[in-house]
Amino acid sequence: MIEKEILSDTDSIYNYMDNDMVVGYLEIRLVDGVLDIMNLFVNEENRHQGIATKLMNEMFEKEKYNRIMLEVNENNSNALKLYQKLGFKEISFRDRYYGDDTAIIMEKVK
Ligand SMILES: CC(C)(COP(=O)(O)OP(=O)(O)OC[C@H]1O[C@@H](n2cnc3c(N)ncnc32)[C@H](O)[C@@H]1OP(=O)(O)O)[C@@H](O)C(=O)NCCC(=O)NCCS
Repeated sequence: MIEKEILSDTDSIYNYMDNDMVVGYLEIRLVDGVLDIMNLFVNEENRHQGIATKLMNEMFEKEKYNRIMLEVNENNSNALKLYQKLGFKEISFRDRYYGDDTAIIMEKVK
């Protein structure tokens, strides 16, 4: 079950609940139609069950955005594959954004 928690005028979290425990969450910020993915996390033992996909799909359905932006480490293949599957496109890169690693900036337009 997914529950939305409002943190402020701009920030909220979608929590994926299992037996009253949060096993995954998606934190977003929405300003002037631009939605930023601040955090996406699923507990290690609950991965590869579609939880992150469900959190993202719930957010696509509920939020009123024009575009979604995110940054992902070039070496985070799990997250990259997930975002590509959900229709995000690479739009730019930021060298050494994560220590030695490059950040890939991705976007999805409504
Ligand atoms: C990235 C992350 C959020 C993905 O979470 P997840 O819940 O495992 O993601 P999903 O299950 O929705 O999708 C991942 C994979 O599971 C597969 N999957 C989905 N449902 C499935 C099911 N019922 N049975 C088997 N596999 C399934 C998906 O097809 C996908 O596989 P693929 O990568 O081989 O294509 C998770 O790995 C994580 O928390 N990582 C650490 C934090 C992080 O890197 N966050 C992103 C920062 S930008």
